[in-house]
Amino acid sequence: GELALALAAQLAPLRPRLALLHRRTLPPTDRWDTVLAEHPRGEDARVIGELRALRAAGVEAHPFTADVTDPDAVSAALEEAHERLGPLDGVLHLAGVAGGGLLQHRTRERADAVLAPKIAGTLALAEALRRRPVPLLALFSSAVTAVGGFGETDYAAANAFLDAFALAHDGTGAIADRVVSVAWGPWRRDRWQTEALADAPELRARMLRYRARSGISDAAGLDALTRVVAAGPPHVYALGDTLDGLTAQATGTGPEVEAAAGGVPAERRRPRPPLRTPYLAPRDDTERHIAEVWQDQLGVDRVGVHDPFFELGGTSLVGLSVVAHLSSHFGIEFAPANLFERPTVARFAELVRDPDDHTPEPGTTRAARRGERRRAVAARRRR
Ligand SMILES: NC(=O)c1ccc[n+]([C@@H]2O[C@H](COP(=O)([O-])OP(=O)(O)OC[C@H]3O[C@@H](n4cnc5c(N)ncnc54)[C@H](OP(=O)(O)O)[C@@H]3O)[C@@H](O)[C@H]2O)c1
Repeated sequence: GELALALAAQLAPLRPRLALLHRRTLPPTDRWDTVLAEHPRGEDARVIGELRALRAAGVEAHPFTADVTDPDAVSAALEEAHERLGPLDGVLHLAGVAGGGLLQHRTRERADAVLAPKIAGTLALAEALRRRPVPLLALFSSAVTAVGGFGETDYAAANAFLDAFALAHDGTGAIADRVVSVAWGPWRRDRWQTEALADAPELRARMLRYRARSGISDAAGLDALTRVVAAGPPHVYALGDTLDGLTAQATGTGPEVEAAAGGVPAERRRPRPPLRTPYLAPRDDTERHIAEVWQDQLGVDRVGVHDPFFELGGTSLVGLSVVAHLSSHFGIEFAPANLFERPTVARFAELVRDPDDHTPEPGTTRAARRGERRRAVAARRRR
């Protein structure tokens, strides 16, 4: 992946021998020129180009194929690497799949895809390494385990597993003399974020600005890794920022943090960002009140009735606050899921006008709940 290649390039002056594990089977070397000529924009061409660039820079880069979640494939790849390159000095586990998406919308399959390379992948590596222990196993975890983040539930859980694994295995020598889990803050490289936040352009733009300002550079990343590996506890946070700065970024910057505490004053609101939807002003009191709560909680100067909540910079944290305000004003017990299902003022207003027009769980009206309770009591009496 991106960081693995960047670190390999950083190591070039040491002329290292690297076994690069990838789940893609590359064409044999004697076909590389043909592949580059025939499909220059294909994924194979991209990987071949990266390998050639590394080799030209002095890295002895050997590609191996295995899905890291497949214990047999990982064992076979490690054995082959051992045979061809000699004993390994260490294994860096960087395989990962970006999470991204509100828990309410995550399917089991999508969450499993995020968990697999970190959990099943680490266990498969451990199984293979038990037969051939190495001096070092370094796991690439993420600081989301400490600071949270937008739609990161499965990703945070996957990385928390790495941290726990390192704490449990370091010093046992069963698979490696040292097992470290480095929980990285955002790197300057941004492919990860670009993919994970494809549905939230405003948030993504803010995250990219943050990465450009406070992200970890390739050189700083290698420096941190070298120091962590040389000495230090099995679980380390490596950030390009202070923990407070990263926390503010992850949970929502300035205005959103204030929002949780009760709204952003009108003079400090930012202009409505450019959106795919043209601005359309609220058309009745219901829409007007919902838009005002959003403006107040999101710190945006005006909200159109078709503006998507998450494109305005909304996060699940702010969503909780919005829902609490709207529940109290309209006397209806809304659930956060209602906002995720109806993420515009116009769509939410429909729910206010007809509260029964939504999934009964988790957001039910008090009246509906009372009705349900009455029916349940009557049924018990009849029995
Ligand atoms: N970039 C950051 O800012 C950042 C911050 C904190 C932590 N990290 C961690 O650092 C690691 C590397 O990140 P990155 O930015 O380099 O991401 P990346 O470019 O997406 O690389 C991840 C790589 O893992 C591979 N992979 C996923 N599942 C696999 C599997 N089952 N078997 C084999 N390979 C698999 C992917 O292969 P495919 O191309 O086939 O999908 C991809 O090449 C990740 O574990 C991430 O959690 C990154």
